[in-house]
Amino acid sequence: MSGAARRGVFIAFEGGEGAGKSTQARLLAEALRARGYEVDVTREPGGTPGAEAIRALLLDPPEGTSWGPQAEALLFAAARADHVAQRIRPALERGAWVLCDRFVDSSRAYQGGAGGLGDEAICRLHAFGSDGIRPDLTLLIVTDSEVARTRLLDRDGDTSDAIGGRSAAYHDQVAAAFQALAKADPDGFAVIDGEGSALEVQARIAAAVDRRFGSDLS
Ligand code: TYD
Repeated sequence: MSGAARRGVFIAFEGGEGAGKSTQARLLAEALRARGYEVDVTREPGGTPGAEAIRALLLDPPEGTSWGPQAEALLFAAARADHVAQRIRPALERGAWVLCDRFVDSSRAYQGGAGGLGDEAICRLHAFGSDGIRPDLTLLIVTDSEVARTRLLDRDGDTSDAIGGRSAAYHDQVAAAFQALAKADPDGFAVIDGEGSALEVQARIAAAVDRRFGSDLS
């Protein structure tokens, strides 16, 4: 990361829809705060006013608009560039823990993998937009699609956004792309079994975070 030294810890939560990422980010934040750490919980697309405005364009496009794959990838990268510059980088420079619900690996899995743009194109956009910043650890929460579907129905009913509402085949490709990314970078990823209660999953995450950072959560 360019600029001032990075002192905090950057963790991204990744996985398909309904994997429990937001709940787990919140639970990990509570555990860290209870130990006195400053924690910033944020999400993508979004996390700043500008990036939230781009989120609305992506997930609820103007009437009659269907973004092409390149425009979609550029909008995600633009939202991320603002989020990194305005929020993530300053928090890390202050020494905070940043817990981000989705980050660039979502673009790699959705737009690069399922969307067919390829990993290199997404990584180039990320290098340009956000200096290629990587999380210190990416927690990939894996659930079987039945569990995720039930959680989504509980959460969203039968409404879903422009990307969440894509075909099962698209979401299967997303899941496969995530698995491939984790396999290619075993130091950067921890694959977390997302089955069971939120507290069971939280215990797995706390153990993975302790292993990686020597924290004392579990
Ligand atoms: P979100 O509410 O974060 O997803 P979830 O349903 O998991 O809670 O919605 C974000 C949607 O945008 C989700 O369908 C994944 C998609 N997305 C991408 O396609 N590329 C990206 O880079 C990011 C960050 C999200």
